[in-house]
Amino acid sequence: MRVDVIGGGPAGLYFAILIKASHPDARVEVVERNRADDTFGFGIVLSDETLANLKRADEPSYREIAAGFAYWDDIHTWFKGNVLRSSGHGFSGIRRLALLEILQRRAAALGVAVCFQTEDPGLEAHRGADLVVGADGINSRLRGQLAVSLQPTVETRPNRFAWVGARTTLPGFTYSFREDAAGIWNLHAYMYAPGECTLIVETTDAAFKASGLGVEDERATAAHVARLFAEELNGAQVLTNRSFWRQFPVVRCVRWHHDNVVLLGDAAHTAHWSIGSGTKLALEDAIALHRAMIAHPGDVRAGLAAYETERRPEAERIQHSANTSLFFFENVRRFWQADPVQFNFALMSRAKQITYENLRKRDPRVIRDVDAWWTKHCAQAAAIRVPAEFRGPPPMFAPFSLRGMAVQNRVVVSPMCQYSAVDGTPTDWHYVHYGSRAVGGAGLVVTEMTCVARDARISPGCTGMYRAEHRNAWKRIVQFVHAHTDCRIALQLGHAGRKGSTQLGWEEMDRPLASGNWPIVAPSSLPYHPGLSQVPRTMSRKDMVRVRDQFVAAAKLGIECEFDMLELHMAHGYLLATFLSPVTNRRVDEYGGRLENRLRFPLEVFDACREAWPEEKPMSVRLSATDWIPGGITGEDSVEIARALKAHGCDLIDVSTGQTDPASRPVYGRMFQLNFSEQIRNDVGIATLAVGAITTADQVNTIVASGRADLCALARPHLADPYFTLHAAAEYQAMGYPIEGVSWPKQYLSGRDQLYQLARRAREDAERAAEQARPPKPEIATA
Ligand SMILES: Cc1cc2nc3c(=O)[nH]c(=O)nc-3n(C[C@H](O)[C@H](O)[C@H](O)COP(=O)(O)OP(=O)(O)OC[C@H]3O[C@@H](n4cnc5c(N)ncnc54)[C@H](O)[C@@H]3O)c2cc1C
Ligand SMILES: Cc1cc2nc3c(=O)[nH]c(=O)nc-3n(C[C@H](O)[C@H](O)[C@H](O)COP(=O)(O)O)c2cc1C
Repeated sequence: MRVDVIGGGPAGLYFAILIKASHPDARVEVVERNRADDTFGFGIVLSDETLANLKRADEPSYREIAAGFAYWDDIHTWFKGNVLRSSGHGFSGIRRLALLEILQRRAAALGVAVCFQTEDPGLEAHRGADLVVGADGINSRLRGQLAVSLQPTVETRPNRFAWVGARTTLPGFTYSFREDAAGIWNLHAYMYAPGECTLIVETTDAAFKASGLGVEDERATAAHVARLFAEELNGAQVLTNRSFWRQFPVVRCVRWHHDNVVLLGDAAHTAHWSIGSGTKLALEDAIALHRAMIAHPGDVRAGLAAYETERRPEAERIQHSANTSLFFFENVRRFWQADPVQFNFALMSRAKQITYENLRKRDPRVIRDVDAWWTKHCAQAAAIRVPAEFRGPPPMFAPFSLRGMAVQNRVVVSPMCQYSAVDGTPTDWHYVHYGSRAVGGAGLVVTEMTCVARDARISPGCTGMYRAEHRNAWKRIVQFVHAHTDCRIALQLGHAGRKGSTQLGWEEMDRPLASGNWPIVAPSSLPYHPGLSQVPRTMSRKDMVRVRDQFVAAAKLGIECEFDMLELHMAHGYLLATFLSPVTNRRVDEYGGRLENRLRFPLEVFDACREAWPEEKPMSVRLSATDWIPGGITGEDSVEIARALKAHGCDLIDVSTGQTDPASRPVYGRMFQLNFSEQIRNDVGIATLAVGAITTADQVNTIVASGRADLCALARPHLADPYFTLHAAAEYQAMGYPIEGVSWPKQYLSGRDQLYQLARRAREDAERAAEQARPPKPEIATA
């Protein structure tokens, strides 16, 4: 077998080692354009988990790598004169050159031919190879040569960063955030050998330009970093090594392999350095590729297909985390006014992997500080004095107020169409559905999209609020909620627009009815599914007045029902959303074109409802904060929309995304819409309700305590478990928290007592089991 590897970085060398070790007769050759000792940068970090993988894959190189490590557990965060410490992070640093030298030696010992100072001539030169591995890094030429098949994209991020070094001793991984006249500068620093540190300094492009530093002026960069972070670096001199101010390219490929050629490491995908995973990905790619080759002896193409299938989800997960992480550093300004404890918690939880509970496992002290700060913060907001030693409930159980409405905790049952109304009238299904969710302990239940007119319905099963029967049925539900629970209930009003007259949720969603369709309207005559959906009529001014008045009439019926809050649905491609989005609004009058015009009708509806809705009761608006469509609504647009709504008396933005048009391409993942909530909340200064794949109490605690939302809505989890909040209360009381902010119905109190007792026992068992199963510390030298 002949294996040609292009690029002698971590990915290329490590794969060459693994394949040569398992196939001693194979001819394995690596071409590397640099000299053996020629490497840019200083050190790299690897986690305990990666080290365990390296140990399993190739023990000899692992032993050498582990012996060369500087190991640390602590992270220190400098922020506005405070230094916050947290432990339990378990990372190891090594000089990048040292890692490469170990891999080079091991490769040579196994008989891999590494040709340094050799520029790869291109794919044609590898015709005779059985397998060609493109490990040629971030600017991979091979990727370019196979672009038609691999379909790469490179997205350049806006921040500027430079990789420098210093000879000094740091007590742990160090973050620091400092502001000068140009802007905020972030320092990421760690030791990779005793007394030797890697520093990555980062700032916004605007701050970089304002600073007057030149992209390649290494002397000025070193002086600037040394001056700005003198205290953190103990006054050490800052060293450079091709320390240019670059912008991070996020590389993605639709495919990683073509024929017998495969990309590995940075050539295939990049992960922002702020989660320290570039080398991890490169090495673990090599391990996975090797495993696939072993599993498919003599069939390289099958091996490559298997490699990509197995490896892609994990690589994309890490890339997704890295993208979430870089978002924090691009937007530090958003958290600049936060209390240092909250700032540090927001920093730690930025990539969504470290959560409130995860951090508690790493360092319970940090969570005690978060809890103490949170309790004080909530007490201040409610103008209550609490003794210093008072321990409040966890963040999700803190009350929250909007105008005269006080919710007892931060959990919201998200609006969910039940498609079970009869001619707009809620039925017994709704009575039981909403009643049991309110009994389940959430602070607030929001009704499904309730339509302001018969022809405003999405489907024949949608609830309405345009007839006395509707009001009476809703009133019965609201009365139950108020009489038997401490939950608040909000009415979500909407108009389906071009998504109207469609089938029930469990039929062919968004498709027209088989018969009995009613005419639909929209800002522009664009069907939702061209060729399939009805073509909506373009709304005239008269239509707008009619629809606005229908919203007001429905709001007034909502007042009669005594709903606690009114939410207007301006998301998901329904009527008001289609006015906001340039994808669906192509009008050329004063209701189309620039954002200010597209906002005009939704604001008119909002104003009219606000006027009708009682002053002491809050109003919220659900937005699709991005259309997930190029040229559609962006997070920045949503900030402007939310700003306008706030100025018109809106109290809360319910931050959803997408569903504007079939062209939407959402990026799903845990809490995948949270960045937009963070952006709107902190850029506008308005309360937000986060939603979308929030599934655990831990996530709710993390979101609210880190300042990314004020409330969290859970939709699907509440379908499976109406008692989500009561279950969470049981878990937290078992951890010793006082539980306030959740009410059990008196009829269920004996169930509560049993659940609490079982939760305490389960916790004791889990703690005992964890103690017995605790793994030994990794065998690594300490710096
Ligand atoms: C500022 C910064 C900080 C980082 N910090 C960390 C960190 O702390 N932890 C971490 O894990 N990762 C970190 N990384 C990322 C890490 O450096 C890379 O992700 C990792 O090196 C990728 O390995 P690779 O083998 O895929 O590519 P590379 O290491 O880039 O190796 C590719 C090799 O291919 C060679 N090559 C390219 N084209 C040709 C050609 N035509 N002919 C011959 N040779 C060629 C190059 O010379 C190079 O040696 C950081 C990156 C940056 C920019
Ligand atoms: C069955 C179902 C019906 C829904 N109906 C509505 C609705 O009427 N109004 C609305 O704004 N969102 C509606 N949604 C969206 C949810 O409120 C929520 O934003 C979405 O499901 C993401 O949250 P989750 O990941 O917790 O499920 C619906 C979702 C589901 C699953």
